[in-house]
Amino acid sequence: MTSVLLDTPPVFDAVLQDGLRDLLTWRRDVRGFQATPLAEGTIERLIATACLAPSVGLSEPWRFVVVEDPAARAAVRANYETCNAAALASQDGSRRALYASLKLSGLDQAPVHVAAFAERDCSQGHGLGRQTMPSALDYSVAIAIHTLWLAARLEGIGLGWVSIVDPAAITEILDIPKSWHFIGYLCLGYPSEEHDVPALQRAGWDERRAPASRILYR
Ligand SMILES: Cc1cc2nc3c(=O)[nH]c(=O)nc-3n(C[C@H](O)[C@H](O)[C@H](O)COP(=O)(O)O)c2cc1C
Repeated sequence: MTSVLLDTPPVFDAVLQDGLRDLLTWRRDVRGFQATPLAEGTIERLIATACLAPSVGLSEPWRFVVVEDPAARAAVRANYETCNAAALASQDGSRRALYASLKLSGLDQAPVHVAAFAERDCSQGHGLGRQTMPSALDYSVAIAIHTLWLAARLEGIGLGWVSIVDPAAITEILDIPKSWHFIGYLCLGYPSEEHDVPALQRAGWDERRAPASRILYR
């Protein structure tokens, strides 16, 4: 790979800075999708951008499984229904009714499904940076997912992250190598609605806090 050495750093001007802020503000976790399919090659192009993410030791442990098989999709959705019913049952009192009112996945509508895994038995990167923190492999995949999220949003495509599933079941449904650790199930497609406030905040489940309340000084 050729490396470009610039005399001056690249300029990220005010327009781009404002645009990035808008992108982050409007990213959203999406659970309602239009039926419109993504153009051929779109998911591969977005995943290629996601692969620009940082990774521990340059291990690039992300593995993306594009789930096209209707039977596999139905099995994932059935697993989500089972896990979500258990999650609902674990809610107390008034929270239970609120939880029941939430739409927590777009599995039924999303034209594209992607399961993301971390290859835990990853020779690439030669173990650098993960002797004391093997979970750094999983973090690397989470960052790649966020990069995918932003790349998709830049093209008007929404992404919804579904974690209300059983990792072992997903691994079995998709016939995945045992060394791949499940990170998240992603639904992608054009959003049916646009919002600048998280769905859970709009539903009264919880709300964003002031960033200053998340900083500690020592
Ligand atoms: C690791 C992870 C797992 C998530 N799992 C779910 C999920 O199973 N169902 C869901 O509705 N949202 C899920 N979300 C989305 C969050 O609810 C959402 O990011 C949060 O409410 C903030 O909203 P926003 O992404 O629109 O800003 C997940 C997000 C992350 C980062």
